[in-house]
Amino acid sequence: MKTNIKNYPDLKVAQKRDTNKTVFVNANFDIVSSLKPIVEGDKYFIHTLGCQANVRDEETMRGLLSKVGYISTDNVSEADLIIINTCAVRENAEDKVYGEIGNLKKYRRENKDKIIALCGCMVEQPEILNYLRTTFPEVNLYFGTHEIPNLLDYIFELKKGETRIIDIKSKPGEVIENLPSSRLNKYKAYVNIMYGCNKFCTYCIVPYTRGKERSRKFNDVLLEVRDLKKAGYQEVTLLGQNVNAYGKDLDEGYDFADLLEAVAQIGIPRVRFTTSHPWDFSSKMIDVISKYDNIMKCIHLPVQSGSSEILKRMGRRYDREKYLTLVKEMREKIPNLSLSTDIIVGFPNESEENFNDTLTLCDEVKYENAYTFIYSPRRGTPAAKMEDNVSSKTKSLRFRELVKRLEKYMEIDANNYIGKTCKVLVDGESKTDQNMLSGYSESNKLVHFKGDKNLIGKIVTVKILESHTYSLIGELVNE
Ligand code: 5AD
Ligand code: SF4
Repeated sequence: MKTNIKNYPDLKVAQKRDTNKTVFVNANFDIVSSLKPIVEGDKYFIHTLGCQANVRDEETMRGLLSKVGYISTDNVSEADLIIINTCAVRENAEDKVYGEIGNLKKYRRENKDKIIALCGCMVEQPEILNYLRTTFPEVNLYFGTHEIPNLLDYIFELKKGETRIIDIKSKPGEVIENLPSSRLNKYKAYVNIMYGCNKFCTYCIVPYTRGKERSRKFNDVLLEVRDLKKAGYQEVTLLGQNVNAYGKDLDEGYDFADLLEAVAQIGIPRVRFTTSHPWDFSSKMIDVISKYDNIMKCIHLPVQSGSSEILKRMGRRYDREKYLTLVKEMREKIPNLSLSTDIIVGFPNESEENFNDTLTLCDEVKYENAYTFIYSPRRGTPAAKMEDNVSSKTKSLRFRELVKRLEKYMEIDANNYIGKTCKVLVDGESKTDQNMLSGYSESNKLVHFKGDKNLIGKIVTVKILESHTYSLIGELVNE
């Protein structure tokens, strides 16, 4: 099959980092006037897997597509353009994509004019891309995380007769401010404050797929948040792979604590941020979080392991003691803090003792929420080359034991809500019961309660009557 390969990914190139300051560029939309008459009224379908950065990328793609008159559909069978926005962080996220493309193949066989596109982190991996392009000839467009601004150009070229395009350039990346965006939620917004990651934890593929750490300018972030406030948004979540590194690549003299404080002062009712690396979480940040009522008292602080030995091999730049000291400072300075974490079980050669260190760390921290993963080797990362003598059965047993331990503390925490009231930003009908509404408390607990649909998008007070490990049930308090 004839393929126009504009750029092909290369992990060695993706791994390079320089100390150059961040480059800001503008995207070019000259193609809009030529493409619009061709696709106006056509339908598109996007499925996004993975993290919030991918969701935000989807919003950018939606913004681009609406510029030329594409209309969104939830029905994949009627879509002229199908985009799967992939994730590479673990193998199971990739398996989902293989299954999904298998199901989509028939649409292209029925109609050769359709475009099936794969983008996101998965296609940034050369070996995976080799496999995808030989196994799924039906996919006629591949583009990487850095190439999203070119989406409309690719569509135009395919409409003009190109059979297949691959454009994935491994590069440090720049910051582009003039991209359109169609937000998926009217009340809660993600705001990118920085892109990429320089941490290179030994198990993680993200620094290779998303390029180097680069921050948006202080005033560009504030401008976006002010616009969101004007548009009635109730909540913003500041996004970055590691928000603590904000500003280090700019000459503006602001750090994350300064940015968080300035965002809080704009007065949006709820400000959140994610994700924070424990390594450079400063006391100044803790002080800002405790000072402003509208900064939610939730910190996602991935620990990954409770064993200093494993943390060293993960390249995490802190040990168990440093992490626990940081948690102590946070708990002391921020009353009612809700701490959440990510933990990887079964890192290569994790001993019983190492695993036990993770369990005892959970006993000490008593996380209010946690995400647990079985280690998944990512080709090209240092950990994937490490010898591993732990069986997958042992990994599964450890995983289950860890989840049980974490749930114990989550249940105790949830139980403490009974009889108390909390403020809930109403998302919509509950997914489990259409007669109920649901939303999240300030501490990020999922709360279900009965109420009128006109409350959607508002912050209401709910009295908690019943607690479960992962949700609370309550009744509306009329104020
Ligand atoms: N295997 C398992 N979990 C991983 N994560 C990142 N890379 C891997 C991997 N190779 C987890 C980390 C990270 C979260 C987003 O995904 O816990 O914090
Ligand atoms: Fe991956 Fe570590 Fe960067 Fe997080 S901080 S994205 S785990 S490399």
